Amino acid sequence: MQQTIAFVLVLLQFAFNADGALKNNGQFPRNFLFGAATASYQIEGAWNEDGKGQSTWDEFTHRIPSPVTNNDTGDIACDHYHRYKEDIKMAADLGLQAYRFSISWPRVLPNGYADTINEKGMQFYKDLVDEIVKYGMVPVCTLFHWDLPLKLYENGIDWRNEKIIDIFVAYSRLMIQNLPKVGYWSTINEPRVHCLRSYGDGKHAPGIAESGIADYQCSYVILKAHAKAYRMYKKEFPHYKAPFGIVIDCQWYVPATNSSEDIAAAERYYEFECGMYFHPISKGDWPDIVKKRIAHRSQLEGRSSSRLPQITPEDIRLMKGAQDYIAINHYFTIMAANAEEASYDEINYKHDVRVNLLNDPSWKISVLGWAICPFGVRELLKHLKEQYGNEPIIFAEIGVADDGTSLKDDIRTEYYQGYFCYILEAMQIDDVNVVAIIPWSLMDNLEWAKGYIYHFGLIGIDFYNDPTLTRRLKDSTYFYRNVTTTKRINC
Ligand code: NOJ
Repeated sequence: MQQTIAFVLVLLQFAFNADGALKNNGQFPRNFLFGAATASYQIEGAWNEDGKGQSTWDEFTHRIPSPVTNNDTGDIACDHYHRYKEDIKMAADLGLQAYRFSISWPRVLPNGYADTINEKGMQFYKDLVDEIVKYGMVPVCTLFHWDLPLKLYENGIDWRNEKIIDIFVAYSRLMIQNLPKVGYWSTINEPRVHCLRSYGDGKHAPGIAESGIADYQCSYVILKAHAKAYRMYKKEFPHYKAPFGIVIDCQWYVPATNSSEDIAAAERYYEFECGMYFHPISKGDWPDIVKKRIAHRSQLEGRSSSRLPQITPEDIRLMKGAQDYIAINHYFTIMAANAEEASYDEINYKHDVRVNLLNDPSWKISVLGWAICPFGVRELLKHLKEQYGNEPIIFAEIGVADDGTSLKDDIRTEYYQGYFCYILEAMQIDDVNVVAIIPWSLMDNLEWAKGYIYHFGLIGIDFYNDPTLTRRLKDSTYFYRNVTTTKRINC
């Protein structure tokens, strides 16, 4: 009930905010961090160099026929492995205070296990961190951004199998020991998208399509792996100051109408997406609505137990409170309409949640179909504070795609202008504790199965026409540099 009222208030506030002026003074705190983010497979290239093992993404993008648009691969990507010094200098020239990157697990551990280290791969990340620190930037490191060692997968070990938990913890331990200058750690990037795409609809490596079963198992195993890595870090590295967390993707969901069904649908969708991860970490268990619906559907299917793995009392002890800060990836707002009446004959996640998603016709939509709705980010921040307390919040990603045909990327400048203002509004007016904004991405890169068509970069690369992969400044580069250096924005 309380949540329902909150959602109605959100709607009312939206109407008000759409016309009402923002009240913040345009100034981010002096110690606020502006950064930019990347991920190993999307930028590094050098897929088979210097002793690197293959990842599931190497195998996936090399399949014939290719599951990736234009047969694109990450074989070369931005060639960052060879150009990291140039790229980190570019990040520093952008005025950044933080740089987020991820480690390619098989580059360091070719077969995935911590007993066989590829020293050249390890050296690469040590050098990378030194380079980031050299320019006074804070290294923000993600341990797993979707490139699983292929050898593990071939041995039957992936995120469906609990055996991966200790293997991941051992890998995490090794990286933490070797990279003591990292300023923020996170275990896993966007577990929801990873589980959904890699084990639910099969659109990402390794391409398993067992929606409603394997994706839920993946969520459970990932949460446990994260929590166990967190406990290991706290126990074994008590002298380390770097906060430790997990990066969760969280959009904002508004009801399509003010009917109680649609309001409940928006609430439900939030719980099936963000709540599914935030709830176990903050409260120890799945959100109630998620648990109830999957159990109910499982029963109708004649199963003796729910398709959603049960979180045990032991799991609760492990998971509850297993983060020092909240890290979110946020991109857009979407409308949710109740779809209880729809008939689905297969077992899948959509069947469990039963929500139709749509955009309001008045919203501006990017090439990926994602709505640019700055007001949504403020509502999300208020909701996170209300639900999970006022822990420090980092935007580990935020951004917009275009088709990359012009360096005059007005849509990106407009996006950041709007989103930064609403984030600042949440900080100053609603007292939400945001400490960093790390846009996606430092430079254009491989958008996974969608190839090189979509450009998110603050720096441009023309993958299809320019074999030199020259980094080019966009209009948004200048806009962002002004924000990072002044920490001011005109709202
Ligand atoms: C989320 C992912 O973390 C990142 O890898 C991806 O490229 C961006 N969002 C854009 O979709």
